[in-house]
Amino acid sequence: MINRNEHPTNNIQLQKRISELPHCTIGSDVLISTNVVILRNINIGNGAVIGAGAVVTSDVEPYTIVAGVPAKPIRKRFDDQIIAALEEIQWWDWPTDVIRQHIDLIYQKKVNMDIIEQLREIKKGLS
Ligand SMILES: CC(C)(COP(=O)(O)OP(=O)(O)OC[C@H]1O[C@@H](n2cnc3c(N)ncnc32)[C@H](O)[C@@H]1OP(=O)(O)O)[C@@H](O)C(=O)NCCC(=O)NCCS
Repeated sequence: MINRNEHPTNNIQLQKRISELPHCTIGSDVLISTNVVILRNINIGNGAVIGAGAVVTSDVEPYTIVAGVPAKPIRKRFDDQIIAALEEIQWWDWPTDVIRQHIDLIYQKKVNMDIIEQLREIKKGLS
């Protein structure tokens, strides 16, 4: 992760204190491919995919695939209904044993509303 003006050349030291620098927020279940640069102060939503070689200069919406320099959206991974449901279910925050128990469901290759309903039921059982 880099930032503009991170190395002020008129200071005695070239590096700003880490604590002074803005941070990035990277959501859960995010794929950051090889050779990616993310500028500071960027938010990357849950489930996003950053394509190889991308330079990310603006926030990335949840479950959106971005690529290029600067990174631009290629497409959403799922339709809006499924994205909203996954954001509500937040399976990555479940206890590890529950995730392990349902790992085959979470790793389904094709997500659909039937799988979403099963995940919702599991989440209900946790509260
Ligand atoms: C981002 C990625 C996952 C997208 O895959 P996808 O959704 O299947 O995308 P597609 O291959 O259908 O490409 C869609 C478009 O985006 C472009 N594109 C895809 N990946 C790109 C990238 N990394 N940079 C620039 N453009 C890219 C394609 O050229 C295509 O453009 P077109 O519509 O003009 O022809 C994949 O391309 C990628 O970068 N994978 C790298 C994974 C990796 O680094 N793995 C190793 C570490 S785990």
